[in-house]
Amino acid sequence: MWAELLPVGRSSASGGYRRYAWTGADTDCRTWFREQAQARGLAYETDRNGNQWAWLGDPAAGNAVVTGSHLDSVPDGGAFDGPLGVVSAFAALDELRGRGTRFTRPLGIVNFGDEEGARFGLACVGSRLTSGALTAGQAHRLTDADGITLPQAMEAAGHDPDTLGPDPERLARIGAFVELHVEQGRALDLSGDRIGIASAIWPHGRWRFDFRGEANHAGTTRLTDRHDPMLPYAEAVLAARREAELAGAVATFGKVAVEPNGVNAVPSLVRGWLDSRAADQEGLDAVVAGVEKAAREYAAAHGVDLGVECESFTPVVDFDHALRDELARILGKEADLRVPVLGTGAGHDAGILSGRVPTAMLFVRNPTGVSHSPAEHAAEDDCAAGVHALADVLEGLART
Ligand code: GLV
Ligand code: MN
Ligand code: MN
Repeated sequence: MWAELLPVGRSSASGGYRRYAWTGADTDCRTWFREQAQARGLAYETDRNGNQWAWLGDPAAGNAVVTGSHLDSVPDGGAFDGPLGVVSAFAALDELRGRGTRFTRPLGIVNFGDEEGARFGLACVGSRLTSGALTAGQAHRLTDADGITLPQAMEAAGHDPDTLGPDPERLARIGAFVELHVEQGRALDLSGDRIGIASAIWPHGRWRFDFRGEANHAGTTRLTDRHDPMLPYAEAVLAARREAELAGAVATFGKVAVEPNGVNAVPSLVRGWLDSRAADQEGLDAVVAGVEKAAREYAAAHGVDLGVECESFTPVVDFDHALRDELARILGKEADLRVPVLGTGAGHDAGILSGRVPTAMLFVRNPTGVSHSPAEHAAEDDCAAGVHALADVLEGLART
């Protein structure tokens, strides 16, 4: 499975993946998913929001055990963020078939569409639509950097955008959802464990800061005559670091767009995206308010207009305690496996679904902690341990 996925959407320049929603690379990933489902004799379907499902047993029977993740990537992402959960799902099914496991509940494998939000700015579009956290109207207004709307992109990729919307019937089939994911930090590496169970996801969001000034000549415009939006933007970047340190949180300006983007022009517009996450809502609010305050003060001092827009927000996720305990109990049977319970600052479809269905996550050790980078890694034997753990979990749940 890895060998087939390896070249899909991979940049030869960076070695990273550029698998953005509804592009050719995404279509190739989707084709791969359908072929994996069909090769295993699973019933395959794409839902109204473009999420892909593969079923063993009849999902209409309800109380299904579902596992999976996503196949799209951030710009120059690693190989594991998302695909590890999907590959492990198919591999765990293969392992269970090898064991001769008999399932009393339907088993589903899912690929949620557009988890990273790299193209349209909003993360977890597929699961948000399905759960009703994003309306069809809001989704129809999403636009990429080239001005292509989400419906246009979907249509070009062969999916009907008119069907977008909440899907309570599909959610009602799910009795438990378990997402396996590469860890995106070093907690497991530091504790010396291969596998972890998620406790919670930090509240997090994305805010767009539009600094509007005045384009002018870089050689002839006196400093005092400038309305340079780069200056308050720079202050906002520094404030993000300061405020995050104060709150024990994280804050990042990782994406910036400059107009006209000429080396010899004072910019007319600097648009920066703040990603911030904290252990609790108070901390997150404090960071964002602090960054905005600093940005406004500097903008005013330089005669620059500032607009701040929250593009997405996900409140704190506390994963279902009963399901989490059940995973710990199942995995506790392996004598040589210690499975710590970890919180994370990374967002996941599991977090979106957790408000609607009992949801849990398994993490697989990442020896460097690096993620959202071509350098992301997980060792082969840790990935195998993840598949084995997922198989145990699915088997344990499918019998209950
Ligand atoms: C998704 O990977 C996120 O946490 O941004
Ligand atoms: Mn990611
Ligand atoms: Mn992911």
